[in-house]
Amino acid sequence: MLIAMEVMAVRGGFNPFGVDGLRMDYYMMNCPFADQIVKNTVNRALQDDPTLAAALVRMHFHDCFIEGCDGSILIDSTKDNTAEKDSPGNLSLRGYEVIDDAKDQIEEQCPGVVSCADIVAMAARDAVFWAGGPFYEIPKGRKDGRRSKIEDTINLPFPTFNTTELINAFGQRGFTAQEMVALSGAHTLGVARCSSFKGRLSGSDPLLESEFAKTLSKTCSAGDNAQQAFDATPNTFDNFYFNALIRKNGLLFSDQTLYSTPRTRAIVNGYAMNQAMFFLDFQSAMVKMGRLNIKEGSNGEVRANCRKIN
Ligand code: HEM
Repeated sequence: MLIAMEVMAVRGGFNPFGVDGLRMDYYMMNCPFADQIVKNTVNRALQDDPTLAAALVRMHFHDCFIEGCDGSILIDSTKDNTAEKDSPGNLSLRGYEVIDDAKDQIEEQCPGVVSCADIVAMAARDAVFWAGGPFYEIPKGRKDGRRSKIEDTINLPFPTFNTTELINAFGQRGFTAQEMVALSGAHTLGVARCSSFKGRLSGSDPLLESEFAKTLSKTCSAGDNAQQAFDATPNTFDNFYFNALIRKNGLLFSDQTLYSTPRTRAIVNGYAMNQAMFFLDFQSAMVKMGRLNIKEGSNGEVRANCRKIN
């Protein structure tokens, strides 16, 4: 009866049981302390290094956008395979050791139960909250993937994308323009390196205001790896990023472009004025992102070591 209802509901386009087998209480019976272990591990790591909050949020995004949220970002390259993490767009990702640490502790308690993909999703959730952002509960039950290839990372959005390209890139994965802008709000955390924005300094960027160009040039005078924060509070999850866009202080072209088109400008203005609205939209967009192309059953596995396929 239940199954019949479910099938009907799915056919009707709405499934009260969730579109996949992910569940909030997925580990309740087999690993009840998984959430707590991840949270404690993330909190400890962020106390030592608050900049890791940004890294963990970005890791979840880069995991989900390539091959779905399946921990593929964690796989190390081998002599026969260059993995996602070694692509140019991923070289500045950090925080892998936080995931390893949580995984090791979880494996001691309940071996072979909790996937690395779920740990990445939980770590991002806990990092957002630790940095002062919203707390959102996430469903679990993702399996880990067996594929991680450098060439797949071509599908990450580029910092040179304009609004149309961003809307398309996110639209292909089922996100609305509003969700794309909310997710871009993750740039309230962290930094970018000069190499990610120096292209703007060649004089060809109509969105770059001259005072801000001076700031960026100064940063870049220290080299390609010199870092510039996205907003004035890079370790705090707030709506300063959107206010920076209004002041034309968006760091990447893909940030500032959101303020240049009427459709997304209205959303930016809304989030800049109303942080609570940003938080609400961000948390539901993150939960949605965490469901991208997840693997279940025999489509995936629970890795023993997050860096290696079993
Ligand atoms: C909209 C399209 C996006 C583009 C083009 C983009 C691009 C970038 C680039 C180029 C950097 C700097 C990398 C570096 O120079 O080292 C960066 C950093 C970052 N991105 Fe994005 N990103 C996008 C969306 C997102 C989303 C959806 C999230 C998370 C939900 C996210 C989270 C972050 C975070 C937190 C950082 C800072 C990382 C750190 O400080 O270690 N980004 N992004």
